Amino acid sequence: MKYIFPLILSALLSGIPMNAKNQQVIPQPASYSISEGYFKVPAKWDVYSDLSLQDTDNLLSVLKHPYEISPKDKTCNLIIEKDTNLAEEAYDLNISEMCVRLSAATEKGFFYGLQTLYQLAYVGNQGKREIMCCEISDQPRFEHRGMMLDVARYFIPKEEVLKLIDAASALKLNRLHLHLTDDNGWRIEIKKYPKLTETGAWRVERPEIFPGRKNPESAEEPTPIGGFYTQEDLKEIVEYASSRHIEVIPEIEMPAHAAAAIASYPELACPVVDKFVGVFPGIGGSDAAIIMCAGNDNVYKFYQDVLDEVMEIFPSQYIHLGGDEANKAIWEQCELCKAKLEKENLKDYEELQAYFMDTINHYVRSKGKTAMGWDEVTYGDPKEEMIILGWQGDGKIAVNDSRKSNRKFIMTPAKTLYLIRYQGPQWFEPFTYFGNNTLKDVYDYEPVEKDWTPELTERLLGIQGSLWTEFCSTPEDVEYLLFPRLVALADAAWRPQGSEDWDGFISALDNYFPELDNQDINFARSLYNIQHKSVPTGEGLSVSLDCIYPFAEIKYVTDGTIDTTKYASPIFLNGHTRIIANTYKDKESLGMPLILDFEFNQATGKNVSSENCNNNLASVLTNGLRGSDRISDFEWAGWHGKDAEFIVDLGEKKKINNATLGTIGFTDICVAMPESVELLISNDGINFTSLAQIEMPEELIWTKENQKKDLDFKNLNTEGRFVKIKAKNPGKIPEGFARDGNNTWLYFDEFIID
Ligand code: ACM
Ligand code: ZN
Repeated sequence: MKYIFPLILSALLSGIPMNAKNQQVIPQPASYSISEGYFKVPAKWDVYSDLSLQDTDNLLSVLKHPYEISPKDKTCNLIIEKDTNLAEEAYDLNISEMCVRLSAATEKGFFYGLQTLYQLAYVGNQGKREIMCCEISDQPRFEHRGMMLDVARYFIPKEEVLKLIDAASALKLNRLHLHLTDDNGWRIEIKKYPKLTETGAWRVERPEIFPGRKNPESAEEPTPIGGFYTQEDLKEIVEYASSRHIEVIPEIEMPAHAAAAIASYPELACPVVDKFVGVFPGIGGSDAAIIMCAGNDNVYKFYQDVLDEVMEIFPSQYIHLGGDEANKAIWEQCELCKAKLEKENLKDYEELQAYFMDTINHYVRSKGKTAMGWDEVTYGDPKEEMIILGWQGDGKIAVNDSRKSNRKFIMTPAKTLYLIRYQGPQWFEPFTYFGNNTLKDVYDYEPVEKDWTPELTERLLGIQGSLWTEFCSTPEDVEYLLFPRLVALADAAWRPQGSEDWDGFISALDNYFPELDNQDINFARSLYNIQHKSVPTGEGLSVSLDCIYPFAEIKYVTDGTIDTTKYASPIFLNGHTRIIANTYKDKESLGMPLILDFEFNQATGKNVSSENCNNNLASVLTNGLRGSDRISDFEWAGWHGKDAEFIVDLGEKKKINNATLGTIGFTDICVAMPESVELLISNDGINFTSLAQIEMPEELIWTKENQKKDLDFKNLNTEGRFVKIKAKNPGKIPEGFARDGNNTWLYFDEFIID
């Protein structure tokens, strides 16, 4: 007789080692109860199966270990039984001392059950091959558990895509969204339009980092970078994925993010565009406003022809039509677009985009398929049914749209599930965009909010990790950004709502890392690195050290000491100090050593106030550390679209000779240097006297390259307690730069007073 206990209780009662309460399988099963005893993993599996020999054979490849399919008898140690009462993706796994019983209604269910058995039997470094007896009853929370690969910005070789499909299917992900076309490359062979890959799959070589790469000026420049999948390649990918229960959803971008197509067939752009357009190596600058003409019927024909071939290759029910970030400026100048707007009685150019999407979607639906689109497609309220991918505003645009329109949606919010972002403390990470989303941010992601109605919740089909590849140039770069965050995403997409357990997940992940090594995946170890925070207290600095890895001990040395100190609470500093810290487990160092050099001047550790700082980081101006070349490293104080103002309180009247203010410019990510900076002084914090002003030369305000600059106020020869800085925002980014017309950020760090 077997006793089934809830996991933790049973671990306590039965003397099973405490790690038994750790999560055993990724993603965490819906229900998992252990019972007494162990099942010994056999050298060879003796399998009885209800299924055909062929189907059983296919399924058992998941175990990657020897097996033999036998007639039913008592010696079988793996019994595979059909249970038509179970849901499509569900399975039950019962492991006793004698044998393993797996039941499911479909091949998918069996596949997932065998993935679970594989993990229990073979994953990790436990040494002994025993499985705790247990009863698992499992099925996913979401029907869409997605991974998006942007194969347009970096052409991911076919072999790598297959490798990633293997890794994703082991985590029970079931959708691969392939972003096949964009400004930076067209990656799918279309027989009717051969120039799409002859021209559109290739771009010029540029050494600069992604956003600032200059566009080609003529068709004469060599275009050595790129590649494309033949239709045969894509059929192979689809087949490979399908045998691992992953559906491949192709995305063909329209009407924007289409520069590679326009480079191939320039006549598809609005006729007002009479300049050369090449495939963009970067974000394209003002050329990114060049989109497909909505008034040219050949454009609709083009997409219908392309989609005919796409639908031949991809059996998926879904076709993603893009639809994001379509700048309407050129449509507004185009006679054809204007005529279309009037003919169709449309209110504005958003409605023209909705008309565009509806026209193509109508065609897609006539073929029995369902279209998807990025959340911008909701702006003009398209009439044809479409599934929306929510990426902007934490996914809120899709959610709010669904409240009104009842459209189904998938959440892939940029802030949490765009895997291009930094996954850990930025000093250790390769350069990329935006801020952080750590492994823990992805793991903790919960799309459903308290105020959602059951109907709205029902319309959420699932979640997706989206990897944009601006900063990738090798398969290893792709793997580094994907893993281990994709493991956390898979857990969040599968486990029951509200069942998260970070410590449990991390213990399972520690166990899973050797499996990623076996798969030869270049995964990041950023979870072991330390994120520091240095905050002025008025008297000095309070320095805290944090790590998302829950089993780490943080130890540090400060200069003058030899022995390490265990970090327990914030460290107080009031003079120049070097701190070297790292994380440890069982005396082994885990992360990268963090070296912090705190430099003290008269302002260091003194309080800073700002009424209009946009990122709430004004305190970093006097925290003894300089910002890096990444404005999102939590060391830069930022102001958006307005003048910056802050005051440092030196605590008492001080002699002030010189002051230095660090700033940074990078127009490609909407960061400019200030037009001018004024320094003012006061004894009471109310009445300020202007002492000096620095005017910035125009060519320094708008810098395409990431540049830091120190602004020096020399020979001030004054006294005072309060020092105020007023910095003038130079306005919107001018023409001729990437992101022209956008509001600019000003960033400062550090403010030094001698
Ligand atoms: C997107 O990030 N433009 C979908
Ligand atoms: Zn037009």
